[in-house]
Amino acid sequence: MNVGIIGAGRIGQLHAQNIMCMYNVHIRSIADPYMTTETSEWANSIGIPNILLDYKTILEDKAIDAVLICSSTDTHAHISLEAIAANKHVFCEKPIDHDLKKIRQVLCALEKSPVKYQVGFQRRFDHNFRAVRQAVEQGCIGNMYMVKITSRDPTPPPIPYIKVSGGLFLDMMIHDFDMVRYLSGADVVEIYANAANLVDPAIGAAGDVDTAVVTLRLNNGAIGLIDNCRHAAFGHDQRAEVLGSKGAIQSFNDKASTAVLSDEHGEHAEKPLLFFLQRYMQAYRNEVLSFIRAIEADTEPEITANDGLQSVLIGLAAKKSLQEHRPVKIEEIDKLGG
Ligand SMILES: NC(=O)c1ccc[n+]([C@@H]2O[C@H](COP(=O)([O-])OP(=O)(O)OC[C@H]3O[C@@H](n4cnc5c(N)ncnc54)[C@H](O)[C@@H]3O)[C@@H](O)[C@H]2O)c1
Repeated sequence: MNVGIIGAGRIGQLHAQNIMCMYNVHIRSIADPYMTTETSEWANSIGIPNILLDYKTILEDKAIDAVLICSSTDTHAHISLEAIAANKHVFCEKPIDHDLKKIRQVLCALEKSPVKYQVGFQRRFDHNFRAVRQAVEQGCIGNMYMVKITSRDPTPPPIPYIKVSGGLFLDMMIHDFDMVRYLSGADVVEIYANAANLVDPAIGAAGDVDTAVVTLRLNNGAIGLIDNCRHAAFGHDQRAEVLGSKGAIQSFNDKASTAVLSDEHGEHAEKPLLFFLQRYMQAYRNEVLSFIRAIEADTEPEITANDGLQSVLIGLAAKKSLQEHRPVKIEEIDKLGG
């Protein structure tokens, strides 16, 4: 299978490195209008034959079966539409867009197209969260009462990134909205958000929050709870728990080792892995493998464009809830989106 990568930034390079280790997938081209000499040399060094400025060259290349859209968020929807029209299978990094109309245009185009479309929510492919999901699916926790997710970053992103990110709910908590849906197998019907600017005043000045808690009502009757913070002094804090009538299942942080040193001062263990690039390295590989398998086997990708839409709907509802200090139904946002 031949693929093209659109966007040669942080996540584009990560996917390219991973695909280079897959025996049945070949990266034919990579495109980025801001390709630097350094990036071009890197692409050359890992053996990508065509290093381009314009992604349209990838879409016009009949030898390319699939594209990975790894460019800035504001380009995802229109490149998705062009890729679908060019009959390329699409792996699109999250989010598809922040604008519901644009996301719906993508869903509409997919209805009339045979191409596969997967959204990049790599946490669904993390070994810990997958184990939680499997236990829930097998009925091990009984009737679901509660889903709890803790997701904290070691450090906030740069302020210029915060300004264009869409805010904490659409940039960071969007992963957790998808995780609640994945772990519970249910949809979110209502959200109530509370948030503050405690980590860095510059984040507040940029119009965003850095610390947030939301409660959710799910359509299976269970309650969801997510906490996010842009700063955790000890590393990337990524944990989940599902509680039900038969018991609970929890997942903990991954560490470089499980060794614990005990001495007269106490017990000393490793911190969680630093950040998402460390914690989710295998998950990033697995999500692309899953996309490739869906193309080869002609099956529905594990994460669909509708999953991409749902997470944005919940994110927009969270923003509205915070602004208006009230619980917001997802339906209310869905109707507004046209
Ligand atoms: N799933 C995850 O965990 C995860 C992690 C990081 C980023 N992302 C997503 O991936 C996307 C990229 O993030 P990043 O951190 O790699 O950003 P980045 O800024 O490092 O890279 C984005 C790249 O896209 C390029 N670009 C802009 N317009 C383009 C176009 N028209 N055609 C081709 N390339 C174009 C830019 O020049 C840049 O090199 C964002 O949408 C982000 O939300 C997802």
